[in-house]
Amino acid sequence: MQISFSKKTRTFRLDTENSTYAMMIGPSGELRHLYYGASIAAGDDLTSFALRRDRAFSPYPEGLTSNDSLNIAALEYSAFGSGDFRNTAFRLRKENGTPVTSTVYKSHTIRKGKEPLPGLPASFAPAKTCETLEIVMEDSFSGVRIVLRYSVFDDSDVIARSVKVVNRTANPVRIEKLMSAQLDFDSMDRDMIYLQGKWARERQAARIALHPGMQGFRSARGSTGHQYNPGVVFADRSASERSGEAFGMLLLYSGSYTVEVEADEYESVRAMIGINEETFAWNLAKGEEFDSPETLLVFSGNGLGALSAQYHAFLMNHVIRSPWKHVRRPVLVNNWEATYFDFDDKKIYALAKCASSLGIEMLVLDDGWFGKRNDDRTSLGDWFVNTGKLGDLGKLVKKINRLGMKFGLWFEPEMISEESELYRKHPDWVLSVPGMRRSLGRSQMVLDMSRKEVVDYLFETIAGLLRSANIEYIKWDMNRNLTEIHSALLPPEQQGETAHRYVLGVYELHERLLNEFPNLLIEGCSGGGGRFDAGMLYYVPQIWCSDDTDAIERISIQLGTSLFYPSSTMGAHVSVCPNHQTGRTVSFRFRGDVALAGTFGYELDITSLGTAEQEQIREQIRRYHQFNDLIREGTFHRITEAFGQSDVAAWCWVSADRKEVLVTAVRKNDSPCSQAPVCRLRIPGLDPQRIYRMENSSFAMHGSTLMNAGINVSDDLRGSAVSVLYHLKAG
Ligand code: DGJ
Repeated sequence: MQISFSKKTRTFRLDTENSTYAMMIGPSGELRHLYYGASIAAGDDLTSFALRRDRAFSPYPEGLTSNDSLNIAALEYSAFGSGDFRNTAFRLRKENGTPVTSTVYKSHTIRKGKEPLPGLPASFAPAKTCETLEIVMEDSFSGVRIVLRYSVFDDSDVIARSVKVVNRTANPVRIEKLMSAQLDFDSMDRDMIYLQGKWARERQAARIALHPGMQGFRSARGSTGHQYNPGVVFADRSASERSGEAFGMLLLYSGSYTVEVEADEYESVRAMIGINEETFAWNLAKGEEFDSPETLLVFSGNGLGALSAQYHAFLMNHVIRSPWKHVRRPVLVNNWEATYFDFDDKKIYALAKCASSLGIEMLVLDDGWFGKRNDDRTSLGDWFVNTGKLGDLGKLVKKINRLGMKFGLWFEPEMISEESELYRKHPDWVLSVPGMRRSLGRSQMVLDMSRKEVVDYLFETIAGLLRSANIEYIKWDMNRNLTEIHSALLPPEQQGETAHRYVLGVYELHERLLNEFPNLLIEGCSGGGGRFDAGMLYYVPQIWCSDDTDAIERISIQLGTSLFYPSSTMGAHVSVCPNHQTGRTVSFRFRGDVALAGTFGYELDITSLGTAEQEQIREQIRRYHQFNDLIREGTFHRITEAFGQSDVAAWCWVSADRKEVLVTAVRKNDSPCSQAPVCRLRIPGLDPQRIYRMENSSFAMHGSTLMNAGINVSDDLRGSAVSVLYHLKAG
């Protein structure tokens, strides 16, 4: 890992273990992008990559030639209105009304370590193990500074980027757009891979060939959303799990974001990621600064599998802070699908008692324990216990603790019901535009998290409950998106700040709770997996993947999620059949094998199960304890292509010393004469020299054989909705 600057060629170089990133100060002071890809020799002059011969109609800065046009160059962070007609990375509205910006290099620093981003999630590392480059660019008209930050880490191929705007002028400046990172590629001959979906079908991997024009995706929902995820990968057309070049951009942000991709008339591609400008504007007064969220870039020369492995390790080591990240999470039972709103203390205790007899370690009480909530129309915001339903919560928790079980509680902090005490007291705490019709979602409204008193209220009420009883886990839900994004407190010229201030308020509430309760295990959730992003993972070590617990559906949800996110972050439970979302019935074993790939738990009325299924629960929990260290800490590989969207899918985890591997293979639908493609699974990541033996079997093969010839699974994958686990160990 190293960052260097050559005075002679005015070139910056960032080197990670396997990648090089290079840029130079261009002829008119702008930053030109030279190279990003596999490591290249130090010292070679790359400046010729900055030059492109003029094509027709290219404007150029005064004093230069059309070969220097900003419109044809690969740029590092492009300015609006001064010669680059592509989508540009930022737009500042200045005192004279102009959004035209022209930034030129002023200075730079290279130093050990990396600063946190105030109020925002950001990667971290001990100062000795990372380096940060800050390049200060200045708008030639206003003197406003744009500081481009790049950090590299000694254990990773990630480059962390963010941007700071500093208003050193006497006048206010309005930031109308501020992308977190831009990557210009000189070829369109690539695929774009991203995650798309909907409620109960989140994060399905999509792969499309780049084509001329604009493409991309975004959220204008005030949060991440079920529809897309704030990350994107550009890969060779032929890139597979194990070969080909791939470049990733992953945003640490939980609000509205955009991924803008444009292939221009020269077949160059510009990709940018950052806050969605549709719901964003920020007024920067004299002397103020504004930080963009951070983006993590990854380059892999060895396919999508290696790219994902880089992201997984980086998120584990440098983003997730929770003390739980390296700890086996308690196996839980959640009462939601077991009871929905229809429960009382007796039912909950019975569930806990049965759970403890089966080896389950935590009872999570979901929606419906507070205010007067017996359906989803009331009481959000009234975070006090419904004693009519539950009696004294402290007593119930103690009784559950006496069973040897932990206790967890559901909250939906950001929401408010019209039918609530809180709304009667503080109607102005709701996001809404005065005089305009409001939109409801699941009968509820959204609290204005940009207001300090709202965050204070939520902190005090939630912390009060956590102080009053031994609540060791919370599920933080969010069941609607933001509309009428307007804050009663902000003046008209600052209304554009509301959406981002909302996200900062959510982060602040997390921060304050974690300060007081550092060991609290928080599971993120948003109507299932509607807020599964790297920003949230800075605060919570796990996120509920989806309200769809159907094991067949979960395969592509979980494998899609694994494009960026590690197994230990994925909330996965066994639920009842027929499944409540799809009506499908599959075996208990199959459900268990699929849920094993995340944090593990149950979401059904276990008290009504027969002894055979209860016995399976005991066995599944035994296996969870046997394998979770490997699943949580090992390197995850997708063995099959297509992110679980084909009939047969397989994945595995390999231990750091490569002596242990757990393979899961599943088949959704068998069909006649379809054995051939499934008989071989080639297991990646092993030690070629070692002999791997299968538990309770005479099976033994060298790593080289398993990696290249594979194992034959055709007998084990006969039928539909079937699964098999292979646990292999090398001596
Ligand atoms: C949506 C979540 O995803 C579910 O698991 C459950 O907690 C409900 N909300 C409760 O309202």
